[in-house]
Amino acid sequence: MILVTGGAGFIGANFVLDWLAQSDEPVITLDKLTYAGNPENLQSLQGDARHTLVQGDIGDAALVAKLLAEHQPRAVINFAAESHVDRSIHGPGDFIQTNIVGTFHLLESVRGYWSNLPENLDCHGSAPLAMTAGATKSSFRFLHVSTDEVYGSLTKDDPAFTETSHIEPNSPYSASKAASDHLVRAWHHTYGLPVLTTNCSNNYGPYHFPEKLIPLLIVNSLVGKPLPVYGDGQQIRDWLYVKDHCSAIRRVLEAGRLGEIYNVGGWNEKANLDIVHTVCALLDELRPRADGKPYKDQITYVTDRPGHDRRYAIDAHKLERELGWKPAETFDSGIRKTVQWYLDNPDWVTHVQSGAYREWVQKHYK
Ligand code: NAD
Ligand code: DAU
Repeated sequence: MILVTGGAGFIGANFVLDWLAQSDEPVITLDKLTYAGNPENLQSLQGDARHTLVQGDIGDAALVAKLLAEHQPRAVINFAAESHVDRSIHGPGDFIQTNIVGTFHLLESVRGYWSNLPENLDCHGSAPLAMTAGATKSSFRFLHVSTDEVYGSLTKDDPAFTETSHIEPNSPYSASKAASDHLVRAWHHTYGLPVLTTNCSNNYGPYHFPEKLIPLLIVNSLVGKPLPVYGDGQQIRDWLYVKDHCSAIRRVLEAGRLGEIYNVGGWNEKANLDIVHTVCALLDELRPRADGKPYKDQITYVTDRPGHDRRYAIDAHKLERELGWKPAETFDSGIRKTVQWYLDNPDWVTHVQSGAYREWVQKHYK
């Protein structure tokens, strides 16, 4: 049994779906179901006895303690966060609350649970509940999912971020993630909590909420809306197909060294404007505009994001060298799959755009 927080969001949902496609080990998903948490992402698991979705906050210590005691997970994977940089600029409060205060409460709940786990399994005698469920003090893991944005911004000639790069966050989002990473580190050094941290570059793929660049480009293109490019569009991001991020997390969970940080990235640095042109060209091929004009005609330059980081680049050598991880997708293969996924899933897109996905949450939860 594993507990996945934020499992109804973009990366968390891909992680849960991939996990259960590859193993029968059950998953409890704990998700607050904010605007970014979409139960439709996990719809294919409805009725699957291996999966339970619980609505709740990582900062709700009583709920988290109850879930841990009841389900005795052998690992907690923490995806739960406020994740959108632009929202953090307009309203940083939720980012401080979930990413910092929420992570603190989650760490404390997990520490309470972990410190009471048995040291080792001895299945010859009468085993306590934790033993039968397989969780032990030495095998338990808390894996914290973080971002390359904690390292700040690079110039064109700087080397890519390594695990020892300075932590220099520039947005309220990245500052809150950096704070959470520090808390996780401190809970390991001070209390011995068996933690692992991953810092990943920009993800793209299925179930990506269309407030982020790539899904926004796809859905806006299809309905004839402008494709907003911030500033000069020459900012660089390092892109990784979401399923490669998920495979990296599984690998780190399996074999990562305790207390270590692993950078995750696909060696795919691209300027934003190149991404925009790539998406437009794919749509021209796969779903040409009715008027025969190219989608790039919809590109609109808009005011830049305040404090916009110029370049991110991840050096993933440590993960490759120590744990033998490699991404399966190139950018070309991953972006084609992504555009195709949005074309193949118009209901998901429509429900997100109309807000209909919130009705399910309101009907089943509060
Ligand atoms: P997302 O916004 O799509 O999903 C976040 C999920 O967390 C949502 O389902 C939301 O409902 C849930 N959540 C928010 N606050 C919560 C709370 N207090 N308690 C419980 N659940 C809560 O984000 P994402 O893009 O899937 O990112 C997941 C994680 O990966 C985040 O920690 C993010 O910082 C990190 N990350 C994201 C990227 C990326 O490119 N998207 C890259 C590197 C790291
Ligand atoms: O680097 C990892 C991070 O990537 C994650 O930690 C964050 O959770 C995730 O949201 C993402 O942050 P970015 O700010 O890089 O992603 P976003 O998709 O918002 O923007 C990508 C780039 O595109 C960025 O330089 C801003 C630009 N942009 C974005 C939007 C939404 C535009 O030019 N126009 C847009 O409309």
